[in-house]
Amino acid sequence: MRNFISVNQLNAKDIFLIIETAERFRQKEAPINKQVFVANLFFEPSTRTKMSFIVAQRKLGLEVLDFHSESSSVLKGETLYDTAKTFESIGANLLVMRHEDDTWYDELIPGLQVPIINAGAGKGEHPTQCMLDLTTIYQEYGYFTGLNVVIVGDIRHSRVARSNAYALKKLGANVYLSAAPGFEDPTMDFPYLTMDEAVETCDVIMLLRIQHERHEARYEDVSYIETYGLTKEREKRMKEHAIILHPAPINRGVEIDTSLVECNRSRIFKQMENGVYVRMAIISKLLNDWGIINDSFEKHTKTYAI
Ligand code: NCD
Repeated sequence: MRNFISVNQLNAKDIFLIIETAERFRQKEAPINKQVFVANLFFEPSTRTKMSFIVAQRKLGLEVLDFHSESSSVLKGETLYDTAKTFESIGANLLVMRHEDDTWYDELIPGLQVPIINAGAGKGEHPTQCMLDLTTIYQEYGYFTGLNVVIVGDIRHSRVARSNAYALKKLGANVYLSAAPGFEDPTMDFPYLTMDEAVETCDVIMLLRIQHERHEARYEDVSYIETYGLTKEREKRMKEHAIILHPAPINRGVEIDTSLVECNRSRIFKQMENGVYVRMAIISKLLNDWGIINDSFEKHTKTYAI
């Protein structure tokens, strides 16, 4: 693998390899015994993803080059490509990037000789979030085939929805969407459920934040939870074993009742914990595949039930 950009580049074997490698890192941290530099280039706000990458990188023993877009030469008119090329020139061995453009990586990949990880591309994809979501689901169920998974919320503007829908479908899950009028995405070919239908039929309820920053006009979300969100009453009707996911940040009282954020079914903080190990696995895989480090992952791979 040259870059980690989209779930569409992954087959089921790649996905299970990452899930298993993440598990291996959870059980035993294995720092890289070599000086390797990594730069985190975030052009959009981030708490979890950025900090989770930094923890993952430090656990791996990497040298982390921090970058603040608001005090960088981007303000002097430097392009994204020239910023990335600068990090490559000064010795970064890996770039992690988030930007509001849906396909920012297209202008970078042809001219760069370092691996790139997509940490969020506009409304496009968020493949590392998807991998930690898949890891969380797999931990719970041990398989994907036939699982009913509903992705609920601002589907049209969510990169998390896109990455998860395509990856889960590839793994054999039954993927459903649930959205308020205007939040549906006509380019995604999945059946829609109401929230009342979703809670009664789904094994995984994946909630999403309303992406206000990607809307042209302010969306009024005052009574949103009653029709489109997870209320206490709806939670009671969920299947016995069903779980709640949310990539966060959470808007308490909008997509989910505040008392449910840490309820027994919620795996929201588990997702964050898993994100560290999943990102360690993805970073290690890329550094291996580029020959920057040398650890044989394939020999650890078992055969998984999809
Ligand atoms: C998500 C993102 O940035 O796309 N957050 C995250 O990475 N955990 C979801 C969101 O911002 O709503």
